[in-house]
Amino acid sequence: MQHEKSPSPFSADSQPLWRLTEPSIWSLAHSDSKEDPARSILRTLWDQPRWLEAYHLYDDRGSELFERICELPEYYLTRTENSILEKNGPRMIAHAPVTCIVELGAGSAKKTTHLLRAQIERRGTGIFAPIDVSLPGLRACRDFVRQNLPKIEFHGLHARYEDGLSSIDKNLPTLFVFLGSTIGNFNPSDFVRFFSLLSAAMGPHDYFLLGADRIKAVKVLEPAYADSQGLTAQFILNLFHNINRRTGGNFDLGNMRYHSWYNPEWARIEMYAVSRAAQEIRFPSFGASFRWDKDARILVEISRKFDPVRLQEQLGFFDLIPVEHFTDPDDWFSLLLFKKMA
Ligand code: AVJ
Repeated sequence: MQHEKSPSPFSADSQPLWRLTEPSIWSLAHSDSKEDPARSILRTLWDQPRWLEAYHLYDDRGSELFERICELPEYYLTRTENSILEKNGPRMIAHAPVTCIVELGAGSAKKTTHLLRAQIERRGTGIFAPIDVSLPGLRACRDFVRQNLPKIEFHGLHARYEDGLSSIDKNLPTLFVFLGSTIGNFNPSDFVRFFSLLSAAMGPHDYFLLGADRIKAVKVLEPAYADSQGLTAQFILNLFHNINRRTGGNFDLGNMRYHSWYNPEWARIEMYAVSRAAQEIRFPSFGASFRWDKDARILVEISRKFDPVRLQEQLGFFDLIPVEHFTDPDDWFSLLLFKKMA
C-alpha cells in the first residue's frame, strides 16, 4: 500500500482524518460510533404514519434487485439519463472547467464514464473521487476505472455523503455529480439539509450536476414503480428481510403486499407495504411490539418528480446558479448543471 504523500482530493485540514484502507480507497480514520441501524429503523417505524429510511433498501439482495429494475422496460429513468449523458457529456465538461469529479453514491459509475471520457478528451487527465457507503461498489468502480480509464486518478471515499463532501479541497476545481434522481428519495427536511451541506462544501470554482426525474403523465410514471415482473415489489418488500435481520423482528413477507401510486399534490410516487391481515410485529430484543392492522400501510420509499425550472429557481436559494439544462426528446428526465455563486 502506498503511504507516501499521494495526491488526493482532500483539503489540507481534512487529509489527516483519512487513511488508505486498500489501494485507492480511503476511509475515515476515526469513523465515530456509527448510528445503530436497528434503532434508526425502530425510530421511524414508531412514527405516525409509520415509515422507513430508503437506504435500508440497499443490502446485497436489494442492490442486486435495484440493478435489475434499471434494466426493466417500464423503468425509463436509467436509460434516459444515460442517453442524455452519452450525448451531452462533452458539452457538460466543456461548461465545467474542473480537474476533479466527485460523485455522490456512484454505484458502478457506468453513466459517469461519459463524463470521465469527455474529461480525458478535453483535458488529458483528471481526478475521479466517488463517495459511497458500499465498499463492493467502490471496488468495482475502481477496477473499472483502472481497466478502462487509466488516465483518470481514482480516489474512492468509503463514507457517507456528509463526511465525504466536507473533506473535499475547496481550492480544487471540482464538479460534484449526483445522478439517478436519488434526490427524489429525500423528504423535505433531508432535501434542505443536503443542499445546505453541498453548497457549504463547494468552493468558488465548483460546479454541480444533478439528475432529476420529471413530472410527466401518470401512465408513464406509475408503471415504472409497478412493473409487470413484480421486481419493484420484491425490492420494496425485501427491506423487511433486512429489518428482521438487523432488529430480530418478525415481519412476514407472505402477510404483506406492495402498493404504489403517484401522489399528484406532492408530485411523488409513494411506495408502501400493506398488511394483509391484523398481525403483531415483535422486536423481542427491544421489548417492543406493535399491532399492524389489516390494510394499514408503512411508507417504505418516496420518489419525487420535479419541474426542472422550479428546481433551478429553488437551488438559487442555496447559492447554486443554473448554467445549462440537458434533457431528452420526450422531456422525461433532466440533467441540470449549476455553478457555485462566487
Ligand atoms: C434510486 C431513488 C432513483 O426512485 O426511481 C426504483 C429507487 N425504487 N424503484 C427511484 C427505486 C423503486 C429509485 N432511485
